[in-house]
Amino acid sequence: MALNMTFRQLKVFESAARHLSYTRAAEELHLSQPGVSMQIKQLEDVVGLPLFEQIGKKMHLTAAGREIYAYSKSIGHMLDEVEVVLDELKGVQSGQLSISVATTASHFTTRLLAAFSESYKDITISLDITNRASLREQLEANRPDLVIMGQPPEGVEVDAEAFMDNPLVMIASPGHPLASEEKLALKHFADEQFVVREKGSGTRSAIERFFVEHAVNFNTGIEMTSNEAIKQAVEAGLGLGIVSIHTLELELETKRLQILDVIDFPIQRHWYVMQRKGKRLSPAAQAFKKFILEQAKEFI
Ligand code: PGA
Repeated sequence: MALNMTFRQLKVFESAARHLSYTRAAEELHLSQPGVSMQIKQLEDVVGLPLFEQIGKKMHLTAAGREIYAYSKSIGHMLDEVEVVLDELKGVQSGQLSISVATTASHFTTRLLAAFSESYKDITISLDITNRASLREQLEANRPDLVIMGQPPEGVEVDAEAFMDNPLVMIASPGHPLASEEKLALKHFADEQFVVREKGSGTRSAIERFFVEHAVNFNTGIEMTSNEAIKQAVEAGLGLGIVSIHTLELELETKRLQILDVIDFPIQRHWYVMQRKGKRLSPAAQAFKKFILEQAKEFI
């Protein structure tokens, strides 16, 4: 007896099973929530068993759900590979390229992509901008072709290559009392308020690690998920900030913000481009990776 399940049902189910949430699957796949539950209901009818169960407030996979989840992941990866193989046959000039980058890397990635697509006009590019925690999840699920972030994530096997320095600098508004001082010791900042990125951001964890390593207290004042908002808050005098120098170009040029001269600063980080270990890169992804490694510095 053949099971009449469709790829679409498996794709929707895989997303709902990974997130253990119909709502998050609907967001990820740009569907309505009733659309997601209908696909899963149909799949359950075909299978003849429930795939999810609700215990208390939490969704769980049933035994059948766990089996179908394992197969739906393998089928999904096989379909991705079919796409790569077909792209190889068509050559590098066309195809799809899906890139996910850390919020901070978006400041230069858009410029890189613009330069790249000058040479490869028929490659369709999708760019997801998100924070480090979510990039880790995406790598684990082997979804994007390539990821750009500061430092490869822990606990996921990746092939990563560093392509550029990423210094984190301390910023203040030009009118700040410390703005004119030289060689400030880190302990000066133990009582200062900082406007910081959210937990889960690479910048945030690098800053916290740095202050712990130097045994200096670090006060997180207001948290923000965007570097743009942090810069505006620092400019308005809400506190000091620590951001990647790659977010600052315009503010330094127009003298709206100033880099403070702090001993042991900047915090040294690097940008990496990576993919899940063992991933078969499409010709478009290979071309973009080569472009980054060879030419990124010229566009930043
Ligand atoms: P973030 O990432 O935008 O999540 O802070 C940058 C980084 O990893 O350094």
